[in-house]
Amino acid sequence: MDVGIIGAGRLGQAMARTALRAGRQIMMANSRGPESLASLVSTLGEGASAGTVDEAAGADIVVIAVPWPRVGEAVEGLRWEGRIVIDATNDFDPSDLNGWTSSQVLADLVPGARVVKAANTLGAAVLGADPHEGGGRRVIFLSGDDAEAKSEVTALFEDAGFVAIDLGGLVTGGAMQQLGGPLAGVNLIQLPQAT
Ligand SMILES: NC(=O)c1ccc[n+]([C@@H]2O[C@H](COP(=O)([O-])OP(=O)(O)OC[C@H]3O[C@@H](n4cnc5c(N)ncnc54)[C@H](OP(=O)(O)O)[C@@H]3O)[C@@H](O)[C@H]2O)c1
Repeated sequence: MDVGIIGAGRLGQAMARTALRAGRQIMMANSRGPESLASLVSTLGEGASAGTVDEAAGADIVVIAVPWPRVGEAVEGLRWEGRIVIDATNDFDPSDLNGWTSSQVLADLVPGARVVKAANTLGAAVLGADPHEGGGRRVIFLSGDDAEAKSEVTALFEDAGFVAIDLGGLVTGGAMQQLGGPLAGVNLIQLPQAT
């Protein structure tokens, strides 16, 4: 299984569709257990499965798609060393940040993981739709401090049809992507270069 998705709501399902479009195997998880996800997994189709949070956290790439107030309990007590973690959260309380970006705060909760901020700037319906639109491809922004992790996440989104734009590290890029930043909610299509 290539991509584990913790949180199976609107954003988690959009990430599932994106990863399946990229040809990856996915595992969805929530706090209620895999049985509660049987119907969703069957709707998502081939390549999708349900598991425990622990199992989903064992994937090559793990997406955190739970509401911000529940991130701590969702990731607590799991092994994160070396994992690539996509932080798709957006609904943080500014008073929780102490001057950090929300992805820095999340990175602190998953010690040893290589966190990439991505998939938070688009609404779930737009993220989960085919990124080929109007003769171009939808842009997805990402940032992170580990080049190899960013390259894996770039490949995931590019294989799904997006144009991935790397904004730099979690401090500068994360601040541009997160709620209140200039790229929050921005939906861009990159058109082919005119010849
Ligand atoms: N919706 C959007 O358009 C959008 C866009 C950008 C970013 N985001 C961000 O994505 C995150 C999720 O938003 P959403 O709209 O997808 O929320 P949602 O539809 O309410 O789904 C939340 C999911 O998280 C699961 N969950 C909650 N606590 C959990 C825990 N402790 N362990 C495992 N799973 C848990 C819930 O399932 P159970 O309660 O059954 O466990 C549910 O499947 C938020 O941070 C949000 O800011 C959302």
